[in-house]
Amino acid sequence: MTSVLSGKKVLLGVTGGIAAYKTTYIVRLLIKAGAAVKVIMTPAARDFVTPLTLSTLSKHPVLTHFTNEEDENDTWNNHVELGLWADLFIIAPATANTMSKMVNGNIDNLLLATYCSAKCPVYFAPAMDLDMYKHPSTSANFDKLAAYGNLMIPAGEGELASGLSGKGRMAEPEEIIHFIEQDIQSKLVLHGKSCVITAGPTYEAIDPVRFIGNHSSGKMGAALALEMVNHGARVILIMGPSAVKVEHHLIERIDVKSAQQMYDEVHKKITQVDIGIFSAAVADYRPANPVDQKIKKKADTLHIELVKNPDILSSVGALKNKPFLVGFALETENELVHAFAKAEKKNTDLLILNSMRDKGAGFGVDTNKISIIDRDKNVSDYEIKPKSEVAKDIVNEIIQRVL
Ligand code: C5P
Repeated sequence: MTSVLSGKKVLLGVTGGIAAYKTTYIVRLLIKAGAAVKVIMTPAARDFVTPLTLSTLSKHPVLTHFTNEEDENDTWNNHVELGLWADLFIIAPATANTMSKMVNGNIDNLLLATYCSAKCPVYFAPAMDLDMYKHPSTSANFDKLAAYGNLMIPAGEGELASGLSGKGRMAEPEEIIHFIEQDIQSKLVLHGKSCVITAGPTYEAIDPVRFIGNHSSGKMGAALALEMVNHGARVILIMGPSAVKVEHHLIERIDVKSAQQMYDEVHKKITQVDIGIFSAAVADYRPANPVDQKIKKKADTLHIELVKNPDILSSVGALKNKPFLVGFALETENELVHAFAKAEKKNTDLLILNSMRDKGAGFGVDTNKISIIDRDKNVSDYEIKPKSEVAKDIVNEIIQRVL
């Protein structure tokens, strides 16, 4: 399952509390989620967990000082660069002492200098004994850090290192990661929006072993699904037969074979969603009478009567409360004229035109070249790009119109 932390650059600041030993698990969970991790420790933190453990797990040197004092040729550890490198900064455990310095801009170590230089979101997970936690100065510091825009991952209750029991235990590593994932997710622009995407070909049965199909790979629809969830949307991916793997906890995949099955699944879901993206290459016709047994080779010619499939996109375009609708058009001649007519007939808010005349566009390949046509017949032309990049362009156009 892909985490929203995948590909993120995470700075972990470790301060000097007994809970520092748990940061080894935080680093492991971050790496497992696909994040790049760098660790900064305060001098006191090194008494609780070794830099070697954290550098081994994070695959980066662990920094504590502005320079490495044992190596006179060493370069300066630049807190500004570190602060700018990070997509997010987690301070865990955050001791009462470090929090007080964060509040007051008291910069007496690399971790605090980096904190003051960081432009990214800062999360902090307090850890201390219960009476320190209850002290009015601690509560005042929590409030001030919240006022600076820093996000607190509250401590839990339980047994403390002092032997006492109460509030002050650092949140467990899994809770810290979950808190951050939820926070990032909730701030994505399409959070709370949902979407149906059709993708891939359809197979129309002739007999139990043969079908009429097409060369669609489903790659464009899969790329769109991933791009939509990267922006926080929930996606129902209704997919014809395709070898493409798409796995994400926000993607519900429904596999279908025929156009009629795709139509049925779309109509079960479409009234529940805000956006519909119809990228499937649906067969326009299907055999009128598919047979139960394999057709034997006999005469020199074989006639198969075909009947029209329902047009799924048009049927959704005709709904009274239709979602924001994106259709695709693959044209071989008079592209724009046909695309304008299609947009009108199918009632799309955006129509994505790809021409078979463009090299590297269309079926099977990993690239595509598109033009996007909106309701006012504005046309935006895009360069040839990998399908993942094309998906970004399409989703950006959607975001501009649905928010
Ligand atoms: O009419 P044409 O097949 O060119 O339209 C393409 C668009 O219509 C695509 O968005 C495709 O997914 C959708 N479509 C559909 N059901 C069909 C045929 C096409 O949803 N039966």
